[in-house]
Amino acid sequence: MTGQMWPINGGSKAKRIKWGNPQNQISWAFMKQLREKDKTKKIYECNPYIEVYQFRDNMFGLFNQNCDGAGDVWMYLIVGPEKALLIDTAFGLGDIKELADTISGNKPLIVVNTHSHFDHAYGNCRFDRVYCHEYEEPLIRNQNEHMWDYLFDQNGNNIWLQFDKKDLPVFRPYELVGVPDGYIFNLGDDYDVELVWLGGHAPGMAGFLDKKNRIFFPGDDLCSDVSGVASGPRPGGINGQYQNLTVFRNNLAKIVARIEEFDYVFPSHFIINLENSVLTEELATCDAILEDPDNFDYSFEGVSPNGGLPVTRLFKYIKGFGVLGYTAKGLYPISPDESVK
Ligand SMILES: [Fe+2]
Repeated sequence: MTGQMWPINGGSKAKRIKWGNPQNQISWAFMKQLREKDKTKKIYECNPYIEVYQFRDNMFGLFNQNCDGAGDVWMYLIVGPEKALLIDTAFGLGDIKELADTISGNKPLIVVNTHSHFDHAYGNCRFDRVYCHEYEEPLIRNQNEHMWDYLFDQNGNNIWLQFDKKDLPVFRPYELVGVPDGYIFNLGDDYDVELVWLGGHAPGMAGFLDKKNRIFFPGDDLCSDVSGVASGPRPGGINGQYQNLTVFRNNLAKIVARIEEFDYVFPSHFIINLENSVLTEELATCDAILEDPDNFDYSFEGVSPNGGLPVTRLFKYIKGFGVLGYTAKGLYPISPDESVK
């Protein structure tokens, strides 16, 4: 039998039914080793869906299986001297709030989003207040009680991942606060985490710089499967002028110029604990694509598990890492007028 994404027994209560696009060997091997053998892994009674891994003394990865067919997702919890900070809320499966409070010892919790997508922000309504970058705020505001419907067929059965429907949140309004690039979240004393605007994968994609742990969290703008930073605006995309390779490249150059401020990089999917030089290599790949977009390494026609027309994606290798995926329309900014069609 030819192996491709054989099941990983990480201990989460949710069980995979089927996947969308296949994920790469390197990511899969890493996740299999981590989820089946890592000694820090803990599953708490208050949320049996999430595998908790300890990556630093005060920084935890909350591994959440993707409720649709796309890649599994990391949330991160940083516990400061006075407050804790949760990066992303995934699909909201299980009681994430109680889990974060249990790990932090009930410290006041600040909740932030990297971006608006299904697998990162649908659990927001479990909290009273969530922060995001100001360009992502109008997208997150579109959330409603039907946003999880696409996970089920017409008979109400789970399509991608088996879990109890009642363990999804019941949607309720919450306070959403859009903040600018450079906004600082203080976790007590001099423990600061900075929001760094990146754009690219989403208009208001926010990275977070944990200055104490010297870690950069780039959200979905770096990924050991496909770094999808240049798909271009989606139909009806709000702030779509920021969802392209040129904007991302320029923001990435700014954080690479600050490389002395951090050592490790923790993306929102798959391989984590990457050395900071991976961002230098990603910048070189962005520059090479913008210089000669036709000089890609391979192409692939794919359909998103979330629907839509097939799209031809072009891929170029990030040296020593994965690939950067892009489309012709995702290379350059468009005018704000075009972005709201
Ligand atoms: Fe994602």
